[in-house]
This record gives sequence, C-alpha cells and structure tokens, in this order.
Amino acid sequence: AAMTSGAARERLDMNEYRERLEARLGKSREMMRVVLNKAKSDPKRVALAEGSNEKMIRAAYQMQEEGIAEPILVGKTTTILRKAEELGLDFDPTIANPRDGEWDHYAERLYELRQRKGVTQSEAEELVRRDSNYFASVMVEVGDADAMLTGLTHHYPSALRPPLQIIGTAEDANYAAGVYMMTFKNRVVFCADTTVNLDPDEEILAEITKHTAELARQFNVEPRAALLSYSNFGSVTNEGTRKPRDAAALLQDDPDVDFPVDGEMQADTALVEDILEGTYDFAELDEPANLLVFPNLEAGNIGYKLLQRLGGAEAIGPMLVGMDKPVHVLQRGDEVKDIVNLAATAVVDAQEE
Ligand code: ACO
Repeated sequence: AAMTSGAARERLDMNEYRERLEARLGKSREMMRVVLNKAKSDPKRVALAEGSNEKMIRAAYQMQEEGIAEPILVGKTTTILRKAEELGLDFDPTIANPRDGEWDHYAERLYELRQRKGVTQSEAEELVRRDSNYFASVMVEVGDADAMLTGLTHHYPSALRPPLQIIGTAEDANYAAGVYMMTFKNRVVFCADTTVNLDPDEEILAEITKHTAELARQFNVEPRAALLSYSNFGSVTNEGTRKPRDAAALLQDDPDVDFPVDGEMQADTALVEDILEGTYDFAELDEPANLLVFPNLEAGNIGYKLLQRLGGAEAIGPMLVGMDKPVHVLQRGDEVKDIVNLAATAVVDAQEE
C-alpha cells in the first residue's frame, strides 16, 4: 500500500508539474504571440550569418512558411540546398553566397568603414568573403537586409564584434546590451545586461535601463525598473553600490524617462510587494519590478541562469538592445524555436525603424 500511495503521490506530483509547466509555457507563448503577430503583419528581411547551419536552415524554413520574416541564408549555395533537401524541407530559400564574386561593393563599404581602424583593402575583401559575420553586418549596414542573426557556431564575443564594428549603436545609444525576457507562471521579468558590458558605470547602467524599457514595451509590458545591488537605498555605501544608486538618480532626473525606476535595492526588495510597501514605502516602485538591471556582467549572467534553471523560467534572448539596426547574437546550443523567436523580435524592431 505504501508503494501504491508513493506511486500515486508521484503521479500527482507529475500532474502538478505538468500543469505548472503548461501555465508557464502559457505565459511565454502569450508573450511571444504578441511579437509573432506583430512580425507577421509586416515581415522584414533577416540575414542569417550561419546560413549553412542545419538549425538555421530549419529556422529559415519556419520563418518563411509562417510569414514571420524573409530569411536570407548567408553561405554556400550548393551546401545550403543540399542540406535543405536532406532535411526534407520543401522551399526555395533566398541565399547570399559571399564567395560568388558579386559583393565587391560590400568589401568597398567595409574598407570605407574600417580603413582608419587598421583594415586594409585586401583584408576587407578577405573579411567579406571568409567571415559571414562581417558579410551579414555589411549586408544590414547597406540596407540589403533589415536585421541579422548569428552566434550558433561562434563564441559570443567573436560573433558580437563584427556587428559592433560595422553596424554600431543607435543614435541615442553608446552601448549595446543583452537582455533576457524571463517568463514565469504569472509574471514576466526582463533582465539586463546579461551578455555584453563587463563592468558598467552609472551612465551605462542608466542607458541599458532605458533601452530595456523600450524593449519591454515591444512586448506590451509597461516597465517598472529596479537597479539591483546587495544593499538597499544606501544601507551599504561603496563604489559597487554607488553605481546603481547613481544610475537610478540619473534616470529619475531624466525628463525622457516615463516609467517608475528606483535603486539601489536588493533583488527581494525589487520583487516582493510587502517589502516595497513596508520598509521601503518611499520607493518609486509601488509594484514589484519587471525590469531588473544588474550591477555587472557577473551578476547579470549568473542571475538569469539561476532564474532559468532553478526558478523554472522560460528564457527568451539574448536580445541585443542599443544597436543601430536589429542584431541578435544567439548562444551556442540554441534551438530552432529560439532562432525563430529572436528573428521575430528582430522583425518587430525593424518595423519601428
Ligand atoms: N557597446 C557597443 N559597442 C561596443 C561595446 C559595447 N558595450 N563594447 C565595445 N564596443 C565597440 C567598440 O567601440 C569598438 O568599435 P570600433 O572598433 O568601431 O571603435 C568595437 O565594439 C570593438 O571593440 P573592442 O574594444 O575591440 O572590442 P572588445 O574586445 O572590447 O569586445 C565585447 C567587445 C565583445 C563586447 C567585449 O566587451 C566582451 O567580450 N564582452 C563580454 C561578452 C561575453 O563574454 N559575454 C558573456 C557570455 S555570453 C553568453 O552568456 C551568451
């Protein structure tokens, strides 16, 4: 009998687990549906720098089939067509092959942009022919594509550098940052910066907060931002706690900032209404924050992964904010659905250009 009730309990746990999983996926599906529908209303051209990669080909197929984006696979034509056939995908992909000799103007453009950064004419030709991250970056920079995705087969920094060099930041930005949207059963939290800036100062933290707030609004989420630290509103004062505190002050004084923001505060203060309403009732936040700005890259990267693995959140990202054109650098090991989701956010971003 003990065994039966144990098994029954286990089954119950499994059911409960499944229900929770469903509810959680429900939220993230709901969030993504907003973006996918926006993307479908006006699909844009997305250059996939790793066009010969099987996951990229599958993702391109799905984007095209569902009308989410107009993918451009960057790579060798014969390889891409052979793999598409092997995968049983019946479609006629748009392919840009960097080696087929029609791209002298891309090398010219790259040379123009980088000649005073140590790049020679022949190096520019090499980069366009042999490094598809440079090729795709130039493609977006000259307007032959509206957005770019890469990163599946590269180290994150080496995939990120070409777009930073060629496309660069938006007019109102000096720094790019990587944002993850974490969806839980009943809430959504945007985490920044999780992938780019090692040790941001207060100006950079403030900038990251503003760009992340814009991103949240693309998902129809009204931002409430917390600058995180291990101290609450001056309970510990040193250089580390000063930066998020000063960033919050900069944002509060900024006439362009039209969302509640405060800090520095601990993560539980940011997320627990009773703490915000009780001990810190003077805080600008009346409700828990949904935009968490971490004090440095260690905290941000570790923090979002803990939420994902222990907190059971669904993670969508990393979405690069602050760039002049939409670019997303995926992580190695990302799946087709991650690629399609990021392509959709890039399309929505491109629609606003
Ligand atoms: N925002 C915007 N542009 C930037 C930034 C930034 N944060 N940092 C550098 N740049 C620009 C520079 O201005 C420069 O442009 P220029 O050549 O036109 O003058 C260009 O990018 C290259 O800059 P470098 O200083 O040569 O590049 P660096 O070697 O510093 O690399 C990088 C920049 C890749 C962002 C680096 O800071 C980095 O490695 N960050 C951490 C990435 C990482 O490891 N993330 C964590 C893991 S990722 C994960 O979990 C997926």
